Amino acid sequence: MRLRSISPDDRFEVADLIHASVNAWYQLRGMPRIFNGDPSLTTIFQDVYHAITPGCAMIAESEATGRIMGVCFYHPRQTHVGLGIMSVHPNYFRQGVGRALLQAVIEFADSRGYPAIRLTQSALNLDSFSLYNTAGFVPRCAYQDLFLHVPPEGLAVTIPGRDRVRDATLDDLPALVALELELSGVSREEDYRFCIENPLGFMSLSVCEGPSGCLEGFLGSSSHPAGNLLGPGVCRTDDAAIALIGRELDRHRGRSPVFLVPMDRPTLVRKMYDWGAKNCELHFCQVRGNFQPFKGINLPTFVLETA
Ligand SMILES: CC(C)(COP(=O)(O)OP(=O)(O)OC[C@H]1O[C@@H](n2cnc3c(N)ncnc32)[C@H](O)[C@@H]1OP(=O)(O)O)[C@@H](O)C(=O)NCCC(=O)NCCS
Repeated sequence: MRLRSISPDDRFEVADLIHASVNAWYQLRGMPRIFNGDPSLTTIFQDVYHAITPGCAMIAESEATGRIMGVCFYHPRQTHVGLGIMSVHPNYFRQGVGRALLQAVIEFADSRGYPAIRLTQSALNLDSFSLYNTAGFVPRCAYQDLFLHVPPEGLAVTIPGRDRVRDATLDDLPALVALELELSGVSREEDYRFCIENPLGFMSLSVCEGPSGCLEGFLGSSSHPAGNLLGPGVCRTDDAAIALIGRELDRHRGRSPVFLVPMDRPTLVRKMYDWGAKNCELHFCQVRGNFQPFKGINLPTFVLETA
């Protein structure tokens, strides 16, 4: 194989590959497919990540045929490089393509002095667990993926703190960046600017203010035919997380968004079960390099991905 950077011409072949790779991996193990509908839906990854940091994906291509064997997106940010989505075409599983792509991203990060690479990895997927673990990644936090059906008329629950939550504006950007740096040791202003400016039309971002007006947390969400997700976000307290999740769920009336909550926050988890949430998967925050333990609640997701 040869490795090269992604180009705009790869848009549909990469989307096909992500769709086939992820669905095949789950279906081969007797689980339901992740992506329904047309493979062009998974252009979402290229479109979003290209809009934020163009060209940041590695392609593995067959020297013999020129066909794409695998793709790995990476996200250079102020404090780290985020990694995801990583996909190998099922025709090339277990032939070293994933390892070669990962090695290329590690070399990118190390050669530029980034102190960490972070990603959100499925705890059900021993293939990717082994791939990352043998390359020096350490699982730092465990999350449960929940889905919750929001009726068309909205959730019939009282959401405490709902009045302290509002849409984020660009004026909030410095406070958002400072909060995530304090709570998670991560800084990625461009991701939050993207959520607030919403150039592709399917992202949103809410903030939760404390009694004195200071920022207690924020949470994004995306509604796209490829998937409905809450996140990314960080919160100081369970109360702020509950208020923000309640607000973002309300944007998904008639849909069943998926969101990740840390397993070690029983108050938050209990509230989500009370609202009707069900478990659907488990994920790890995987970090290679520097890691600051979370001082609050991290709510990661897959668009925009970081751990
Ligand atoms: C996960 C995925 C990217 C792995 O890609 P791949 O090209 O098949 O992986 P590789 O052949 O490069 O194998 C990577 C390493 O993991 C090892 N490995 C793979 N499965 C393993 C297992 N079950 N137990 C132990 N080691 C395993 C391989 O031996 C290899 O190690 P080596 O380089 O020391 O030999 C691929 O299965 C895929 O695209 N899955 C669907 C999408 C997905 O799940 N993405 C990851 C989301 S977190």
